[in-house]
Amino acid sequence: MKHITILLAAFLTVAVMPSEARNAKKFFHQTVEIPAIEPKVITIGTEKSQLVLAVKENRELLFLHYGAPVANPDSFMEYQSGRNTQAFPATGGTFLGDPALHVKYADGNHNTELRYVSHSVSAQDGAVQTSIVLKDYVTGLQVTLVYQAWQKENVICAHSEILNPGKKPVELLSFASSSMTLEADKYLLTHFHGGWAYEMQTSREPLEFGTKVIESRRGTQATQTENPSFMVSLNAGEFSEDSGEVVAGALAWSGNFRISFDRDETGLVNILGGISPFASAYPLKAGATFVTPEMLWTWSSEGAGGASRNMHRWARRHGIYGGGTVNPTLLNSWEGAYFTFTTPTLTGMIDDAAAMGLEMFVLDDGWFGTKYPRNNDRTSLGDWKLCTDKIPEGIDYLASYAHGKGLKFGIWIEPEMVSGVSELAEAHPEWVVQSPGRALYESRWQWVLDLANPAVQDFVFSIFDNTMQLAPGIDYIKWDCNRPVYSFGSPYLGAEQDRFYVEYAQGLYSVMRRIREKYPHVLVQCCSSGGARVDYGAMRYCNEFWTSDNTDAISRVRIQYATSMIYPACAMASHVSTVPNHQTGNVTPLKMRFDIAAAGRLGMELQPKNLSPEERAFADRCIKSYKGFRDVVFNGDLYRLSSPLDTDYYAFMYVSEDKSKAVVFEYCLRYQNRATGGHLIKLAGLDPERSYKVTEQNVDSSCWWGNGKAFRGDFLMNGGFNPVLQQTNASAVFVLEAR
Ligand code: DGJ
Repeated sequence: MKHITILLAAFLTVAVMPSEARNAKKFFHQTVEIPAIEPKVITIGTEKSQLVLAVKENRELLFLHYGAPVANPDSFMEYQSGRNTQAFPATGGTFLGDPALHVKYADGNHNTELRYVSHSVSAQDGAVQTSIVLKDYVTGLQVTLVYQAWQKENVICAHSEILNPGKKPVELLSFASSSMTLEADKYLLTHFHGGWAYEMQTSREPLEFGTKVIESRRGTQATQTENPSFMVSLNAGEFSEDSGEVVAGALAWSGNFRISFDRDETGLVNILGGISPFASAYPLKAGATFVTPEMLWTWSSEGAGGASRNMHRWARRHGIYGGGTVNPTLLNSWEGAYFTFTTPTLTGMIDDAAAMGLEMFVLDDGWFGTKYPRNNDRTSLGDWKLCTDKIPEGIDYLASYAHGKGLKFGIWIEPEMVSGVSELAEAHPEWVVQSPGRALYESRWQWVLDLANPAVQDFVFSIFDNTMQLAPGIDYIKWDCNRPVYSFGSPYLGAEQDRFYVEYAQGLYSVMRRIREKYPHVLVQCCSSGGARVDYGAMRYCNEFWTSDNTDAISRVRIQYATSMIYPACAMASHVSTVPNHQTGNVTPLKMRFDIAAAGRLGMELQPKNLSPEERAFADRCIKSYKGFRDVVFNGDLYRLSSPLDTDYYAFMYVSEDKSKAVVFEYCLRYQNRATGGHLIKLAGLDPERSYKVTEQNVDSSCWWGNGKAFRGDFLMNGGFNPVLQQTNASAVFVLEAR
């Protein structure tokens, strides 16, 4: 058999050599032989996409294709001979780019050259899993690339598993989940940045030569500033909603992340997604395996809309805890009562929620703290005992009061945090994330608990567990997290601070796993100062996320538009609150507030007693109508019909998978005179041949001439649907039912 060799150079200390020898630059070589292999192609396919890798004769694993399926992927065998794009590039050998894997060995060496060993394929529950084992023939380090290809959803979940089979520890300096190469003439990146009350703002930019990085170094609240997700439109200079090739990606991780887009000198773009290596040179012990989080990929030839629908379908079926079910409408106490309430305030809200047709009452912040009652955000986190000054009757009283009114009952916790003023901080200062001798920076007057510490993990689990014991049948927990990590440091980890960021997130997931084992049915909302933890890692355990504290309808239009690129409506909690409020001074009509909140999981977050009788009657009507179409919002396919970023009329619709029902939302963001006769919207996703009855919701007099009548899908999709919204901030919702 032919043998390929790689070279290990050991440089003999020149100082002890005579000068002639030094001039001769002598090296001493030791060679490790790598047995050659018959080249082959490995195909990872879904119904409408295909990822093609090739094993070269020298066992390098190359990336060749991600896009439309080809019938005979073996044709890529010859194509591969001219390529040198590593499927999972490691620092070492001839690779000089941004590495997916960078390992420092115990002897100080930084070189790794991954070569193919074997692969296996198995199928389960609609996914085909391909595991490809690679190894470095010198050190023995082993990497398994795992690709789970969801056939119908056209999503590939990829991650890597890094095994140190040696006798000494190694340091992982970079350890991406997945690597993907794109080849096009032009690349347009869409990514999502933001801050508190301003989450998920859309940013679009061409990918030019060099490296673009989106990342978070916040430790907690990782998705404030950037979301670990993106879309790349290929070959198009402009963003296209419904045509052209798009690759979308999302990392399922709630901690520091890094997604890089490296356009090299040949014009290819290599995308790496994974945990951020920032301050995380991860020590991998002898015999240990590091499992990276999943990176989700989807490819679509139907523009951004197709990519979103793929992600959403996957998320509803496989990515979101409890996906596929309809979560209840609710009244949350936060903006209606903040910290100032007693039992009658809450029972009054429960009465109103029940009367309005809502289905759950959620008691937000402020219910706990005995030595230090939680009367504002400066105290008490960590002291999860009922504040009997406010609710002397107990949480069980409130829960059964809600249950007695036919409502579910939920309650808020923020278990990862401790207030500076709290019994917990007094009892366990060693549980606080801190760096010796440095200031304990407060944010919202609180500190972060050290979830790298198993004792803290137990404590955080016990907060959830004990809260669940406060009343039989608590139905819903809102899990909040209101600050990032500053001056990171774990008293528990001692000298191994490099493990902190990774082990914090792993600790969080370990707690959530335990919670799900014990409480499989409780609904959990993932909240973090609004939408600072909107990612598919948390969604493995949570039924929904709080999209943003900003409930202003105009702001929500953009936030929800961007959220919809990657995350499905079923997970997007959207509430109607009073305007103006503490987030914005905007005053949008109650109808628009309902019409945007109804595009996700509808809730209310205000004091119902402050509504006028007319507002109250209107709210009742909107809640009732929402219940009639929310099945489509939760489980339908999304078609964005225009964009709020570049049009005055933003519209989108959800269509049930069987195309029998749809709901259309439209918002006039800036009235134009020329829309006097109606603004044409071309609907999408309907069956062209079926007839749909169109019914506008929550109005006495419709803004569309065809209201109440039935039209064929082709008429509605090709021209003819032109509601008249004659005012900035006017909005409309239409239900379409096939006859
Ligand atoms: C931040 C959340 O985003 C709000 O909804 C609310 O729960 C507050 N925290 C409570 O402190």
